[in-house]
Amino acid sequence: IRLAVFASGSGSNFEALVEAVRKQTVDAEVALLVCDKPDAFALTRAKRLAVPSVSFYPKQFPSKGSFEKEVLDHLEEAGVDLIVLAGYMRIIGSTLLEAFDNRIINIHPSLLPFYPGKQGIQDAFDAGAIETGVTVHLVDEGIDTGEILAQEKVAIDPDDTIESLEEKIHAVEHVLYPEVIQTYIKKLQKEYA
Ligand code: GRF
Repeated sequence: IRLAVFASGSGSNFEALVEAVRKQTVDAEVALLVCDKPDAFALTRAKRLAVPSVSFYPKQFPSKGSFEKEVLDHLEEAGVDLIVLAGYMRIIGSTLLEAFDNRIINIHPSLLPFYPGKQGIQDAFDAGAIETGVTVHLVDEGIDTGEILAQEKVAIDPDDTIESLEEKIHAVEHVLYPEVIQTYIKKLQKEYA
């Protein structure tokens, strides 16, 4: 199975996945990093890890469809089977959804359906919740609404700051995401066989 990781920011989940592939705990190849922010740190990680990458300025395209068609060309050229979103801050449109039906996975830093959207960690913290977590789910046309594949809870302790909470959540993500991806790959392989 060949993976494309889509990222807009730091790319720590991207790096954790590449490491899991190299340790052979994920039975796949990270074929491509797709980035919609040409100055994102994820691209620096890709260079260091020797993973091919492409980056775009989506605003330079006349429409979401034309942007996604360009991305799709790169995915097809790289022989990608499964898209892994990891901090990709853009809603996936119909062009990619139709081409990768049930083959786009996302990770979100809350226990969905609680705290969807761009600031899942901050929103749980600001609400004074005593627990939040991480969700891995399939991507559909909604925002953080697709079928849930796995969730893991993270406690918000009275002495947690937003920074300490972010650290705990990212630590959970870096273990959970590769595990769930591996399980999903096994499922896809059975379907292909
Ligand atoms: C993660 O918290 C992920 O759940 C969310 O965006 C963040 C990405 O972090 N969707 P990184 O770029 O992988 O470091």
